[in-house]
Amino acid sequence: MVQRSARTSRASSALPACYARVIPGLEPVAADEITRDLGGEVKRVAREIVVFRAPAIDRQLLELRTTEDVFLLAWGTDQLTYRAADLEHIRRWTAHDVDWEWLLQLHHLVRPKPRGRPTFRLVTQMSGEHGYRRRDAGEALAQGLAGKLPAAWRPAEDNADVEIWLTIHGRTAVCGLRLSDRTMRHRTYKRDHRPASLRPTLAAAMIRLADTHDAQVVLDPMCGAGTILAEQLAAARRHGLKLAGVWGGDRDRDALAASAANLRRLGAAELVCWDARRLPLPGQSVDRIISNPPFGKQLGDPHELGLLYRDMLAEYQRVLRPQGVAVLLVSDLAPLEAAARGAGWVASRQLRVCLLGQPAVISVWRNRSA
Ligand SMILES: C[S@@+](CC[C@H](N)C(=O)[O-])C[C@H]1O[C@@H](n2cnc3c(N)ncnc32)[C@H](O)[C@@H]1O
Repeated sequence: MVQRSARTSRASSALPACYARVIPGLEPVAADEITRDLGGEVKRVAREIVVFRAPAIDRQLLELRTTEDVFLLAWGTDQLTYRAADLEHIRRWTAHDVDWEWLLQLHHLVRPKPRGRPTFRLVTQMSGEHGYRRRDAGEALAQGLAGKLPAAWRPAEDNADVEIWLTIHGRTAVCGLRLSDRTMRHRTYKRDHRPASLRPTLAAAMIRLADTHDAQVVLDPMCGAGTILAEQLAAARRHGLKLAGVWGGDRDRDALAASAANLRRLGAAELVCWDARRLPLPGQSVDRIISNPPFGKQLGDPHELGLLYRDMLAEYQRVLRPQGVAVLLVSDLAPLEAAARGAGWVASRQLRVCLLGQPAVISVWRNRSA
């Protein structure tokens, strides 16, 4: 990231940079989506942040699936000092290095200005050991913004028309205008929620890693509320993929009802109540298995987890075609690795992610059996 600010001035003919906030660990997948699907140019990747130039500032930015939020970059730095001197820099960069009027015009291209008096909200996030409080950083941001927003605008606690965020992680800080709203990370299809339901952006990342092709069959044998199936159907629609089948199941009938409700508007998926250790499917009938089985803490007994993963993978091996791919999200990799070795699978990628403060791993496996 630039030492001080990406100067957002109309005078430089380039559009301002954007940045995306992502679940920790998903940065490379989000960078890939920004590059290949959006046609953007990634400039910098930091923890939870991907800075990029987009081909245009328009609603295409809101189509990204692996990002939690997208912003117009006002300024960014990776040289915070952790000392109180940072506050003066935050104030100064916000006040002097940003053409806020221009950024607001671009923001209104994506999110049209409402009639009447718009509302605004300032958000400050901070992690790391700094010699100042999050509140102090927020005040520095507010002071830097003094006189920059029209005086008639009203502050709001939530759902504001315009949001200016300051995100600080260690030495890195980015400040920008939020283009997305909560529907980017929560989606609009999620009607029915379940405990342990997956974050849609994480499911979208797993779908990308699975790299599904035309005429393939995709299976989530423990589909819960159906987030992975939903993201697969949405991705197929966006990319014009013609899948031969999207199959899901769970042993919990309430979970299946939630899946059916969530998938209703997205496309056709077969949903069956089953035990994933004894699938009613022919051998070698599936090309992709994408799933997040229960985490250790959901089962309680670590021994039970090892047994579940062993039986589950023996069955997945039976139904997965040779050269088929499995993408699995777990919190405990060791029992999964032991089970995958037993099934003769070869690991091709691992991504360590952090979910609501809990570490987890997305692992990608290929079935090398002939
Ligand atoms: C972590 S949740 C999956 C969440 C899901 N990806 C979602 O987005 O809602 C794990 C799911 O596995 C199901 N499950 C656990 N053991 C199972 C088994 N032996 N067969 C089928 N489903 C099982 C649970 O009922 C639960 O819905």
